[in-house]
Amino acid sequence: MIHVLMIVCGGIAGYKALETVRMLKKLACDVRVIMTPASTEFIAPKSFAVLSGHDVVVSESTSCTTAAISHIELAGWADVCCVVPATANTIAKYAYGIADNIATSALLATTAPVCVAPAMNTHMWQHPATQSNIDILRKRDVCIVGPDAGELACGISGAGKLADPEDIALYTYSLALRPARDLVGEDVLITAGPTREALDPVRCLTNYSTGKMGCALVRAARVRGARVHLIAGPLSCVYPTCDSCDHVICAQEMYEATTRYLSSMTIAVCTAAVADWQPANVEAQKIKKDKRAYYDLSLIKAPDILQYISSQHCGYVAGFAAETTDVIAYAQQKLARKGCNLMIANDVSHAESTFGSDTNKVSYVFADRVEHAPCADLTHVAHDIFTHIVADKSQNAAAAAARACAASPAASVVPVASASVAQPGTPLEKTSHDTIH
Ligand code: CTP
Repeated sequence: MIHVLMIVCGGIAGYKALETVRMLKKLACDVRVIMTPASTEFIAPKSFAVLSGHDVVVSESTSCTTAAISHIELAGWADVCCVVPATANTIAKYAYGIADNIATSALLATTAPVCVAPAMNTHMWQHPATQSNIDILRKRDVCIVGPDAGELACGISGAGKLADPEDIALYTYSLALRPARDLVGEDVLITAGPTREALDPVRCLTNYSTGKMGCALVRAARVRGARVHLIAGPLSCVYPTCDSCDHVICAQEMYEATTRYLSSMTIAVCTAAVADWQPANVEAQKIKKDKRAYYDLSLIKAPDILQYISSQHCGYVAGFAAETTDVIAYAQQKLARKGCNLMIANDVSHAESTFGSDTNKVSYVFADRVEHAPCADLTHVAHDIFTHIVADKSQNAAAAAARACAASPAASVVPVASASVAQPGTPLEKTSHDTIH
């Protein structure tokens, strides 16, 4: 069971921390809560005690109280910490190592990874002091979740809204798995969700994809150190915090948005269930039932985004093959047809791996081998996918370097190690080797 230490700071968004506890419990985490003195003015500690099933630690200072000892115990107990909501004040103290209450002392005392979910007024968030404190935390590998933009309690609209509790819980869980920081320096492009192809102003062709797998991949990539760009169709799950997100509706829009990132991306994972066909004509007005017994729908091919990205040789490219029969054979055909490095196959006719499920059971289909993974929750699957991608990318780079050495005797003096280390868990540099397919 994962031990989560949640630190609750004083802010109106504190009530959402209750929901975050609930989400973490749903993920089978054991949650213990420390509240800053200010946070108790917004929520009663008893609410957290009831939801977490543990006493809540609250104290004015770290001076000689029994609670003062428990912050060290809790800091050691935690597999992961999350600060929800994180105020500008606590962020500043954490950045500068100030330990003037039990919450800030626990943050200093823990060696567990930390997830910080800020919530504050827009101007406070945008203030150079807060931004430089956030930069300090980022450089220390603290995972920053949110804030979102929206209407704030102070009456203005802008950045500073607490991220969705589900996103915070899922990021905390993803971080708790303590993955390697093996995507530092990588620009990961992820397509997710379904597309909608309009028939008329009120109808569309779409599919049952929710986008959950793609969102789990976004979180996994970010906690492993990548910059992540999400191209999202209309998702029916919580949008994850990412470095940039393009909201698109149809295959053509997804294609256009994707092409804008091709020059910067080093890894692409296409999880989106993109329409294969789009209506040849979109009616300007609602199609009427009238007296016809049937309606002829004329469809044309939608752009194949995965195939296009692969043809551009911009980086490592992985696709998904959601199948209902002959899963591996179809995935192998798609791998060859689309020219990507890896096809991740799953059988969507099974409940454990169908659209909308919180679990998945995938097989990794490479040009020379197939590897099967057990069924696991989406967070574990997402990390396993990146472990496979990093290892394969590294092997490809080493193989390309070896070929280059063999082709050019002068290059053979270059040490093999410079071709990149073939170990997952090692940060990979963006080099020309990365474009080898
Ligand atoms: N894909 C894409 N653009 C499309 C269709 C699919 O980028 N227009 C990508 C998906 O994101 C996925 C992979 O291709 O990564 C496989 O998608 P899938 O729908 O399973 O395959 P198709 O090529 O569409 O073939 P089919 O529908 O016949 O199975």
